[in-house]
Amino acid sequence: MPAKIIDGKKIAEKILNGLKSKIKSMKEKPGLAIVLVGDNPASEIYVSSKEKTFKEVEGYCERHNLDKDVSEMDLLNLVTKLNNNPKVHGILVQLPLPKHINEHLITNSILPHKDVDGFTSVNLGHLMSGNTILAPATARAVLNLIESTGIEIEGKNAVVVGRSNIVGKPVAIMLLEKNATVAVCHSKTKNIAEHTKKADILVAAAGKPKLITREMVKEGAVVIDVGINRVNGKIVGDVDFENVKEIAGYITPVPGGVGPITIAMLMENTLKAMELAKKGI
Ligand code: GUN
Repeated sequence: MPAKIIDGKKIAEKILNGLKSKIKSMKEKPGLAIVLVGDNPASEIYVSSKEKTFKEVEGYCERHNLDKDVSEMDLLNLVTKLNNNPKVHGILVQLPLPKHINEHLITNSILPHKDVDGFTSVNLGHLMSGNTILAPATARAVLNLIESTGIEIEGKNAVVVGRSNIVGKPVAIMLLEKNATVAVCHSKTKNIAEHTKKADILVAAAGKPKLITREMVKEGAVVIDVGINRVNGKIVGDVDFENVKEIAGYITPVPGGVGPITIAMLMENTLKAMELAKKGI
């Protein structure tokens, strides 16, 4: 039987509608500052989409576009200004940054309680120790999509393909927190299929078009595709969707799977950041 296709857009719409009603009833609006350095076309699309969605839910959003040659010091100064701005509850510096800028340094210059990406070492440390405060939005989206199927995560074999700090590593930790048995595959893994064939839950986040083929997937598995790859002008995921959907139990499409939920999770994180600010954390 072909897989059930998980409609990320529909799930995201529901979450965003809930957030919109909540924000409508608030006197002070949740504020997000987005910083984009340079003119990477993919980053431009992601940032515009975050900005548009944030405005749709009637939050306060300010965007800062900086030249690709901006100095590290000028970027640090902007983050400091945003850290000190009470209207801004969440700060997002879009990655990747140009090579001359130290990404780790910039990311960690954001105050942890304004770090709506959950990328600072402080927030990743909280995640690692099972005391999550603000967790990376894409990783939260992956968990949300898995949970939307209604399957029990506890005790399942989960395989994450990809080990980025933004997705692979946090997803693995979050699945572990839910008591799955987790394996992480990466570019140096000897035989990826050997691992993925055992996965009840398979998360593809390697950034390689159609890396996951039908032969690599266990029958009935939940397959979450985080990949966004441009091939011949078309966006495709890391999973060979057309063939894998014939064997999987559930599968997310690209586009329309993880992407929309990621933005909804970012909005949720911004509301949470606002609550943290109110509590003086
Ligand atoms: N680049 C790719 N994904 C992300 C993300 O979720 N947040 C930021 N800041 N940059 C990204």
